[in-house]
Amino acid sequence: MGTRASRYLASSGPPSNQSDTVNARASVSFFSSSDHTRSQRDKAPAARANFVYVDGRRFHGAENTPYMLPNDDEEADRLHEQHFALCALIGNNYVADQHGMRRVLDVGTGPGAWIMDMATEFPACEFIGVDVSPIQPVVVMPSNARFEITNILEGLCFADNAFDLVHARLLMAAMPKTCWPDLIADMARVCTSDGVVELCETDAIICNAGPVAEQVNGWLLAVCNMRVIDLSHVWGIPLMMQEAKLQVEKRVKYSMPIGEWCGPLGKVGLSGLVGIINGMRFSIMQACGVTDEHIDTLIAALPEEVNQRQSHWTIELTVGRKL
Ligand SMILES: C[S@@+](CC[C@H](N)C(=O)[O-])C[C@H]1O[C@@H](n2cnc3c(N)ncnc32)[C@H](O)[C@@H]1O
Repeated sequence: MGTRASRYLASSGPPSNQSDTVNARASVSFFSSSDHTRSQRDKAPAARANFVYVDGRRFHGAENTPYMLPNDDEEADRLHEQHFALCALIGNNYVADQHGMRRVLDVGTGPGAWIMDMATEFPACEFIGVDVSPIQPVVVMPSNARFEITNILEGLCFADNAFDLVHARLLMAAMPKTCWPDLIADMARVCTSDGVVELCETDAIICNAGPVAEQVNGWLLAVCNMRVIDLSHVWGIPLMMQEAKLQVEKRVKYSMPIGEWCGPLGKVGLSGLVGIINGMRFSIMQACGVTDEHIDTLIAALPEEVNQRQSHWTIELTVGRKL
């Protein structure tokens, strides 16, 4: 187990009452493709995975990894929807200049929607996505895209200066507070000189919250607190980039609407929020001592309140260039 991962509670993984199959958490370097035998490449990662199941939802089974959202099809659908919403909000999949880009790494890639889109847009470029959960496509994918299963809290398993763009999006619930600076330093290490590191993050706190959304914010903070995650650390990203010798050349803030007050985008925001609450339901009940019924009542009351208040999340994209 890496030193970073041991800095927070060993009990921080999702509650486990059932695990399946063999564990295949080994990290493999992408660029040494000769390291992969054909049988390793062809095997669907999910078939080699270590999962745990709680209340009908599937979670990663990695030790000392505090990320608490599921990794099942329902969550993959939520992340895909969120990907398209973010693309619509930002107007693109990135804000950094992509000139001269040849190799790109996406850290905590999830089901890989960003990689798939980017690999299609830049066919001459090589894309790699890494994640602790094997939930990426294995058959229908651009030939210039690949995925690796690795725990980013144990370090990025790539050579120095390997990528022109190192991207990460929405890792706020994955990062124990002491781990952000190390991850950003590692992203800077694998980035080529004159390449860029681009991060898209939010503290996940509902802004313009009424009493219902305030309770949801409280649940989120309590669940994260139990796992030694401080969501507000995302606002320190520009400073952490500077400390990693990245020159911050862009910071752009967006408001992601929650609720029908803002049309289709807000509708996706609200369904995403409900998906997050449902995905964290067990953790919320554990951390806050609330019942299933109480959670259902709040979910039912959310649409009206977020509409009245015009609630939203604040999202910031930060681009740092390696000098
Ligand atoms: C909110 S999702 C974001 C996924 C993707 N970046 C996107 O924007 O759609 C966070 C992702 O981080 C991954 N993750 C959490 N902890 C991790 C870890 N220690 N190592 C690697 N991936 C991790 C999760 O499996 C999940 O896919």
